[in-house]
Amino acid sequence: MLILIDDADLTKIEELYNMYPYDGVTTNPTILSKTGNPNPMDQLKKIRALIPSDAMLHAQVLSTEADDMVKEAKHMVSVLGENTYIKVPVTANGLKAISILSKEGINVTATAIYGVLPAFMAAKAGAKFLAPYVNRLDNLGYDGVQIAKDIHTMVKSAGYEAEVLGASFKNSQQVLEMGKFGIGSVTVNPDTLKALAFNGVAETAVKDFIHDFEGCCGEGKTML
Ligand code: E4P
Repeated sequence: MLILIDDADLTKIEELYNMYPYDGVTTNPTILSKTGNPNPMDQLKKIRALIPSDAMLHAQVLSTEADDMVKEAKHMVSVLGENTYIKVPVTANGLKAISILSKEGINVTATAIYGVLPAFMAAKAGAKFLAPYVNRLDNLGYDGVQIAKDIHTMVKSAGYEAEVLGASFKNSQQVLEMGKFGIGSVTVNPDTLKALAFNGVAETAVKDFIHDFEGCCGEGKTML
């Protein structure tokens, strides 16, 4: 399962990349606004320069008309270069834009997915990734994890190349469910990402090992 960082803060991205080689970064307009940088393309260029060249960078269009989305997407790809994935919300106009962009060879991530069929339509339109909003679906009273699983099953049964990119997580259990089901990718905010693997329990075990070892061999003693 590909794991991406759902944030645009350079310090957080760098810290996480130093811990583990994640597969890329996803942003949306809200995430970019939180950096305080009034020039979002500048922020995206900085992220692109920070992460490895083979890591993916997903960035979203703001336009709402299909032709404008296409124009915006092409501009973003021309500035950000290879391994850019243009996030297009699955509205009626968005579906049209996904179709045009995919036919022109631009990588599209269909986003703001709140149901199985919108995702399926986006896969048919040629999107490479499908981003269901798991936690937002939960908040609406639906089962976000189940909807992500149903999208995966339906898209794979139909033989489309699109992968689910589970998004909008608020806890590590939701992410774990994605992995156990074989879902291709997830994007996770730094706090939830750290909670997946770095929950302090291993650190506590290490402290106990050191305490026991020092009791026998002396303070500060290692294998050196
Ligand atoms: C993906 O990049 C989505 O935009 C993001 O995961 C949404 O997360 P939120 O529901 O926490 O805003």
